[in-house]
Amino acid sequence: MNDTAVVARTGPDSARRRVAVVTGGGRGIGSTLVRALAEQSTRVVIADVADEGQLLAKELTAAGHEVVFHPTDVADESSVEALAALCRDRFGRLDVLVNNASIYRGLGAKRPFTEITPAEWERVLRVNVTGVWLVTRGLVTLLRESGGGRVINIASSTVHMGVPGFAHYVASKGAVIALTRSLANEVGRDGITVNAIAPGLVANESSLELSGAEYVPAAAARRAIPRDMNPDDLVGTVLFLASGGSDFITGQTLVVDGGVVFS
Ligand SMILES: NC(=O)c1ccc[n+]([C@@H]2O[C@H](COP(=O)([O-])OP(=O)(O)OC[C@H]3O[C@@H](n4cnc5c(N)ncnc54)[C@H](O)[C@@H]3O)[C@@H](O)[C@H]2O)c1
Repeated sequence: MNDTAVVARTGPDSARRRVAVVTGGGRGIGSTLVRALAEQSTRVVIADVADEGQLLAKELTAAGHEVVFHPTDVADESSVEALAALCRDRFGRLDVLVNNASIYRGLGAKRPFTEITPAEWERVLRVNVTGVWLVTRGLVTLLRESGGGRVINIASSTVHMGVPGFAHYVASKGAVIALTRSLANEVGRDGITVNAIAPGLVANESSLELSGAEYVPAAAARRAIPRDMNPDDLVGTVLFLASGGSDFITGQTLVVDGGVVFS
């Protein structure tokens, strides 16, 4: 995909303005990414199981952006097919896919791997890994037909650090990094790049729920840049990976953590 394809257009040419799907875009980090893409004049589809996406789409539409909510379960094949149909029918194109949805907040308290049940393990792997595969599989044809595109997978620096207490989650994000590399090789010839971002601990509600209030400042203190990480800290990297400036980067994982992991 060249620069002309990724730079947002306005006015009468709006039929060619780029389109992005953000899974799990209804709340948390995903909602920050939706706002950032919309502010770049990208038309955005929020694909989320949570109803918050509806409110966000309303708010951004009222502010003059083109943002739609499509209730989507990334772990469900027919739901993903409906998402693909919405993108095709409403926009006729797709340029950027951000695979951000995951079970993170819903993980419950951290616990030894021996206390994770098989059902919990399978559910986390189903949403966090199979979901990335299903959504990318469902939308890749439209990306190809649009002349190429960008797939950005949200992984986690817990993979690099081997963080204990939620082995199913860490394993799932390791698989997202592996999938990123494999898919990159399969779609590079179509002008599609596939990259991952591995965020460090973000000081948001989900992290507080999972790790407790003391963990967030402790994580900040470990960083080369010793402060809290906010969802906004991911915006520049996502916009870069969604832009023509990253045309020749694929299969990579960018760690964005303020300097804990040096990969
Ligand atoms: N918060 C952090 O510290 C942190 C750190 C590293 C990576 N991440 C990753 O960043 C991403 C966003 O994290 P967050 O903190 O905003 O988490 P979050 O749990 O607040 O948000 C996850 C979003 O995914 C949606 N979702 C869950 N299951 C879904 C499904 N089956 N189909 C569609 N949508 C679904 C949720 O409704 C929610 O909107 C996740 O991939 C997470 O693993 C978060």
